[in-house]
Amino acid sequence: MSKDLYQALVHAPQPARPLVFAFHGTGGDEHQLVELAGTLVAGAGIVSPRGDVFEMGAARFFRRTAEGIYDMEDLARATDKMIAFIEAHRASHSGHPVYGFGYSNGANILAAVFLKRPDLFERVGLLHPMVTWEPDAHPKLVGRKVLVTAGRRDPITPWPMTERLISWLSDHGAEVTSDVHEGGHELRNSELTALASHFNGDVGPG
Ligand code: MLT
Repeated sequence: MSKDLYQALVHAPQPARPLVFAFHGTGGDEHQLVELAGTLVAGAGIVSPRGDVFEMGAARFFRRTAEGIYDMEDLARATDKMIAFIEAHRASHSGHPVYGFGYSNGANILAAVFLKRPDLFERVGLLHPMVTWEPDAHPKLVGRKVLVTAGRRDPITPWPMTERLISWLSDHGAEVTSDVHEGGHELRNSELTALASHFNGDVGPG
C-alpha cells in the first residue's frame, strides 16, 4: 500500500485540522522534525517519513554524486515515489488541509514534489532548499503559499541559489514569503517563527 512506501511516524489530525508532512535533512530520520511539527499547528496530524537512500549511513530522500550535484534520475524516481506516498496519506484524511515543510535534503525532496504537483499542498515551508534544476512552470503554482528560509552564509545550500528559487516561484505566480538570517546552514528561531506564522495565517487556495 502506498502509505507504507516509507517508514514514517504518523499521527492522525483532530477533526478539520491540517495534516503536516515533515521531511528531515541528510543524516536525520523521521524523528528529527516530529517534535517541531507537533508545535506548529494546534491539533494537526503529522506524517514524518524517513529517507530511504543512504550516503555512508546517512539517510536521504534521493542520491547525489557529490555535494550539490544531484543524481537527477534518482531524484525523478524519489519524487514519483513520494508523490504516491503523499497522495495515499491525503486520501486517508480527505477534507483536511495539507501542509508540508522540510529542511535541507528534506526541503529539496519537498520542492521537487511541490514543483511537479503544487496541488498536493495548501502550504509549503522550504527551509534551506537548493533547487539545482530548471523546473517546469505549473499553472497550479499560482496563488500557492510558500515560505522559503535561508542563511546568507550557508556553505551547503548557498543563498544565491535560494534567492533564484524565490524569484522563480514569484515569477510563476506563487505567493512567496521568506526569512533570511546572517548565519549558515543551521535553523534559527526566526525561521521556526516564520514557519509557524506561515502555517497559521489566512487560508490559501485548496
Ligand atoms: C542535498 O543534497 O539535498 C543538499 O545539498 C542539502 C544536503 O546536504 O542535504
